Amino acid sequence: MSFRLTTYSIKFESKSFINPVDIIKKEYQFKLNNKIMKRAENKVVVVTGGALGIGRETCLLLAKHGAKVAITDVLDKEGEALAKEINKAGGVSKFWHLDVSKEKEVEKVYSEVYKEFGRLDSTVNNAGIAGVDKPSHEVTEKEWDLVMGINVKGVFFCSKHAIPYMKKSGGGSIVNISSIYGLVGAADLPPYHASKGAVRLMSKTDALQYAKDKIRVNSVHPGFIWTPLVEDFGKEKPGFRKQLDSLHPIGHIGEAIDIAYGILYLVSDESKFTTGSELVIDGGYTAI
Ligand SMILES: NC(=O)c1ccc[n+]([C@@H]2O[C@H](COP(=O)([O-])OP(=O)(O)OC[C@H]3O[C@@H](n4cnc5c(N)ncnc54)[C@H](O)[C@@H]3O)[C@@H](O)[C@H]2O)c1
Repeated sequence: MSFRLTTYSIKFESKSFINPVDIIKKEYQFKLNNKIMKRAENKVVVVTGGALGIGRETCLLLAKHGAKVAITDVLDKEGEALAKEINKAGGVSKFWHLDVSKEKEVEKVYSEVYKEFGRLDSTVNNAGIAGVDKPSHEVTEKEWDLVMGINVKGVFFCSKHAIPYMKKSGGGSIVNISSIYGLVGAADLPPYHASKGAVRLMSKTDALQYAKDKIRVNSVHPGFIWTPLVEDFGKEKPGFRKQLDSLHPIGHIGEAIDIAYGILYLVSDESKFTTGSELVIDGGYTAI
């Protein structure tokens, strides 16, 4: 009511009329939008395998929502380019070369990230490979170890070296990217299935272990998502994309952004009561 009165008096006195109510509304709207937009404001987040696919989309979305993003990957050119893209758009980001299967590298990168940003709120353990697509009796030890080294040991190393910095920061959120293949079987990719099943249970164990330290640990289980990983997998298989689409009751496979939004939720404080859970984002694949 008092706003209205002010408005009328200004209108009466001035020809170049600016409605103060509109200004207040605009300012409020701006603040409101700002708040809604920045769901991970000032969170320091490491994303492994951040240069391509789901990792890349996650880095972009987290940066858009105010996070300081440490992009890590074995692909230096793509990772550096992404950091540049984010910083140019007004975000905060830096790239580190990191092979998650090498503990010394992992240890060094997490310590550098902590030094650079002064805290650590979250690690998105996303780096992963599909590995060989052979029946179990044909898989060699080397092929098995390669998948386990990245998909399982990589998650272990990153959690191990993130946790002390999260403790120093007063808590945190570990987001482990598993798969629908960590929940149900299919007649392909045996080492991959085993690795993603392991990630699911590692997440629950760590969730219980570190709840007292205010560190939440959750796994994400994407259905098929059109990324370089899946594209490569289907290269020599005609009709592959259509066949994949048909496996998802929703009628199609997913996009990297579908998973990135789930990760954003788990990184943000919106998920403060969520730990040890499995976030399934799969177009209904596992509902059958
Ligand atoms: N795309 C899917 O359909 C799908 C489904 C379920 C789960 N996932 C999981 O999501 C995660 C991301 O998959 P994506 O589809 O985006 O894959 P992608 O191949 O498109 O990207 C993976 C990224 O990880 C990086 N990487 C590979 N080995 C690495 C290592 N040793 N150290 C560090 N980085 C390494 C790659 O360089 C790449 O940038 C993986 O863990 C994958 O298993 C993917």
